[in-house]
Amino acid sequence: MNLQTLFPTPFVQIENPYLAARVRPLINTILDDPQYHSSIMNYTSTFDPMNKIEDQIELAQPLVSMKEYLFDLGVAFLNQAGYQTDLMQLGCELHFNRINQGQSHQKHLHSGNIVASGTFYVDFPTGSSPLVLHDPRLHREMVSYPMRVTEWSKRRHYTELRTGSICIMEGYLQHEVETNSTNGRTVVLFNLVN
Ligand SMILES: [Fe+2]
Repeated sequence: MNLQTLFPTPFVQIENPYLAARVRPLINTILDDPQYHSSIMNYTSTFDPMNKIEDQIELAQPLVSMKEYLFDLGVAFLNQAGYQTDLMQLGCELHFNRINQGQSHQKHLHSGNIVASGTFYVDFPTGSSPLVLHDPRLHREMVSYPMRVTEWSKRRHYTELRTGSICIMEGYLQHEVETNSTNGRTVVLFNLVN
């Protein structure tokens, strides 16, 4: 019997280590400054929806160019997935995160007006904890049958990341970062909002 795959979940991973090297020092300077640390997060992060980093500082030109590049990738992703982006009013919000040894980010999704979410790994030391994506089908949260892992039964996907990796997915897709064992795992989070 040939099983068909219905309702696939779009996800893309792109590599740009050159851009990561260019923006990494600028992002480290921001993350090294405690005045930009969000009290919401339990690791070093600028994430604060009520007080965005872009409202606090004027981004240096390489970061502005990076934002345009990431936004364009996000729009292309949504386009390919079928969104009529020319009829939408899309914007992009940036946040910077650094997860050190022993830190993690529990399973969550990006709700509200967030259409797509991207992560750009500007520093991903060897052995860092990857982005883990969870099967978005709701019944996976509720029932558990004895199953072997197939394309259809797999519940989570472990990404294979390196410095320069860029991941983009739709906002509803649950994801997490399990306990990290390195220092300096540094990410640009870019949310495409409508
Ligand atoms: Fe997230």
